[in-house]
Amino acid sequence: MESSCPKCGGTGFVPKEGGVVELCACRFEQENVNKVLGIPKRFWEAELDNYQCEDPSEENAYKEAFVFASSFDPSEGKGLTFVGDPGVGKTHLAVGILKKIYREKGIKGRFFDTKDLIYKLKALIEEGKTSKAIRRILNYPLIVLDDLGSERLSEWQREIISYIISYRYNNLKSTIITTNFSLTGGEKKDRKIRKIVPDIELPKSLMVERLDRGTVSKIFEMTKVLYIKGRDRRRV
Ligand SMILES: Nc1ncnc2c1ncn2[C@@H]1O[C@H](COP(=O)(O)OP(=O)(O)O)[C@@H](O)[C@H]1O
Ligand SMILES: [Mg+2]
Ligand SMILES: [Zn+2]
Repeated sequence: MESSCPKCGGTGFVPKEGGVVELCACRFEQENVNKVLGIPKRFWEAELDNYQCEDPSEENAYKEAFVFASSFDPSEGKGLTFVGDPGVGKTHLAVGILKKIYREKGIKGRFFDTKDLIYKLKALIEEGKTSKAIRRILNYPLIVLDDLGSERLSEWQREIISYIISYRYNNLKSTIITTNFSLTGGEKKDRKIRKIVPDIELPKSLMVERLDRGTVSKIFEMTKVLYIKGRDRRRV
């Protein structure tokens, strides 16, 4: 529920005469937004508004997410990459950004679990439905690629990822990436990151070991990389 709903104050119920309550319209708005953006049910409640900051790196990631969403311009092709260990809230932030942009600017982005998307595109290619259906997916003004490189990738999976990234890169389309893998862009970039989050311990596994160098370098150019350090919120 959006915490700021003026009608119900976030409870989802509006009192009516005679002591009865009615479901607030924001419930339906909420469901609609989540469905339109393809957000998985687990994250239906995730908003930038209810992201809590405990660590300076979370504070920084939240601020960047907020500024990104508030000033989003679909013609610029700008994006964000959230890097961090599992459970630190990367997906939560990505979902929050999608929703804020849709509500405030009416721009329909799309959430994709990266693995799902790879298989979806593979099926479309095999059905021979190449151009139109695939382009429809790749042309969203904003997409989330959740959990990029989460598992060992086979050659064809790598190729599809490289295709998606190149397409988004070449056509100035915005992409938000979440990943457990370190994207290190050489010492200079790492130093810049350390300035914001001095004691960050970068995840041990490297993205360049999963994807080819060209793809990683495009990700660096088209997104701002943000490292998040925090506790695993799934463990409470
Ligand atoms: N900073 C945060 N504030 C509020 N909820 C959070 C925060 N970080 C994570 N969560 C919640 O914890 C769970 C795990 O977060 P998730 O975004 O899936 O982590 P990640 O994608 O980094 O693995 C989700 O239910 C999410 O809503
Ligand atoms: Mg995640
Ligand atoms: Zn309401």
